[in-house]
Amino acid sequence: MKKYFILLFAASLLLFTQTSCNRASANKKSVTWNSLEELVSQMTLAEKVGQMTQAERGDIREGDIKTYFLGSILSGGGSTPAENTPEGWVDMTNAFIEESLQTRLGIPVIYGLDAVHGNAIVLDATVLPHNVGLGAIAAGDSRRGAEAAYSAGFITAEEMLATGVRWNFAPVLGVAEDIRWGRTYESYSENVEIVTVMGANFVRGLQEGGAAACMKHFLGEGQTIDGRNQGNALLDRAGIERILPPYRAAMDAGAISLMPSYSSINGIKMHESKELLTGLLKEDMGFEGFIISDWAAFIQLSGGSFKAQIANAINAGVDMYMATNGRANWMMFITLLKDLVEEGIVPMERIDDAVLRILRFKQSIGLFDAPLTKKAGTVGSDANRTVARTLASDSLVLLRNENNVIQKLPAYRNILVAGHGANNIGMQCGGWTTTWQGMHGPVTKGTTILEGIRSATEGRAVVTYDEDGKADGNFDVVIAVIGEDPYAETQGDRASLITGPDPDHVSAEDIDTLRNRSNQINIRPNDMDMLWEAYGYDCPVIVIMLSGRPMTIGDEYLHWDAFVAAWLPGTEGAGIADVLFGNRNFTGRTPYTWRKTINGEILYPFGYGLTK
Ligand code: BGC
Ligand code: BGC
Repeated sequence: MKKYFILLFAASLLLFTQTSCNRASANKKSVTWNSLEELVSQMTLAEKVGQMTQAERGDIREGDIKTYFLGSILSGGGSTPAENTPEGWVDMTNAFIEESLQTRLGIPVIYGLDAVHGNAIVLDATVLPHNVGLGAIAAGDSRRGAEAAYSAGFITAEEMLATGVRWNFAPVLGVAEDIRWGRTYESYSENVEIVTVMGANFVRGLQEGGAAACMKHFLGEGQTIDGRNQGNALLDRAGIERILPPYRAAMDAGAISLMPSYSSINGIKMHESKELLTGLLKEDMGFEGFIISDWAAFIQLSGGSFKAQIANAINAGVDMYMATNGRANWMMFITLLKDLVEEGIVPMERIDDAVLRILRFKQSIGLFDAPLTKKAGTVGSDANRTVARTLASDSLVLLRNENNVIQKLPAYRNILVAGHGANNIGMQCGGWTTTWQGMHGPVTKGTTILEGIRSATEGRAVVTYDEDGKADGNFDVVIAVIGEDPYAETQGDRASLITGPDPDHVSAEDIDTLRNRSNQINIRPNDMDMLWEAYGYDCPVIVIMLSGRPMTIGDEYLHWDAFVAAWLPGTEGAGIADVLFGNRNFTGRTPYTWRKTINGEILYPFGYGLTK
């Protein structure tokens, strides 16, 4: 009897605390869809337009969030707090959110950034292979690819949350069909099915890890003429239908934000295509999330004035503007959008719809319930680096293996490692790593390919490193690492049609021309010089390529005994030695058709790759 009463008492206490908790949160926050609508109905125009504005962290001063009701803040590539540590990030994001909580309605700002291969903007975070490498895993085995994408998303979320950031401008769902495009490495593959599987699983991993995805970029970014970034794609209805599956699958996986592409379809910029943003995406496909514009994208639109451009984009269906490039720009956006509404050019229903979509997003990711981050977490944990290392291993594609030289590697005692890329975390990681464009050198914590080889062969072989491949002595094998300089977006666009001259028939003139072709996807001149040195040793040459796409190598590969595409493997260079010297096999396959020259003869078809 006594026991019964105690139980009853305990139960009613529990009930009491629970209801009072609910009531407390219901007071401050809205919980149901209806109340969000109610919330919108109570908002002033300034509050609504503020929600639709996203400013760059460097473009705001203290008090701006409160005064202008800004809905979102972002970090552009490389835009970090002065103290680039999880603590520094949490202090910054919490301060922004706290300011937003002080507004009349207390709607928290949402912070977003591009964690496109791990939360790589943060110093010493785990940097995963860029999507091209994950696509190689999927091209080898779709189930394995799906798992890789899921864990990439999950780890990324963990390292984002550690820094107080919950919204990721990822994944890229574009299908790169012209490798001259500078964003080819951000695309999983030229194959729609691979992009579909990988994108959806990345979304799942990311969101189950607690961060929100943003599908980008919609639509046709990989189909532009000559692979030009932000260019024009000519697509008929069937062409559009062909590249939609990744977006549908990501939506099914729960993605509720989306960024349009800078590019145009049939001459109309995506950001002002009402037909595709509202008609196709929101109406036909039933997208209930919100559309965030790309970086200052409105200024590229038609209309002749910023005001007309804003009207075009918002009326087409864009819900929030990434109003970057200076404080004056987001302020101007706010003023002009208010004018447009007052003049009836942008209907109030469109504004209400946009704000409701934004608030729904904030609610569904739990931002109203727990806006602040209690404590900074860890980035770059051993556990996450172990996963990244496995992903790097699995993404390798063995393209050539004459006389089984790869099998003989562990038996060699005297190894020369050469090439600028061999001891170069920055080159391994590529763009979007601590900075927007990426950089050569020790940009963040990790292991280089050289370090990986050294520890894998410790006590078994002597490893000599010479960047230029000019070491004295005899070697059993040369491992030469070549590749692309880091780049991001348009800076990575290439016009290449020609490859380097055959080294056996090279004239001084050819060399000059080659040196001047920095806008092409050829082997870089310094790598070429190094290779010519490497060929001079009387031993096999194994080439490892660090690149965001199949580089145009002409007939150069004929000089290589083995050829491994490592893509942009990230911080864990040891993952490469694990396959070369350990028990792991090559399971990746090329996610892009590899041609000798652009549009030239196919060297390795899509899906090609050898096992050891
Ligand atoms: C890119 C987007 C990115 C945004 C914010 C733009 O230049 O196209 O992919 O999310 O910048 O960094
Ligand atoms: C930013 C990037 C952005 C780009 C757009 C850069 O300054 O750091 O995030 O994508 O501008 O042009």
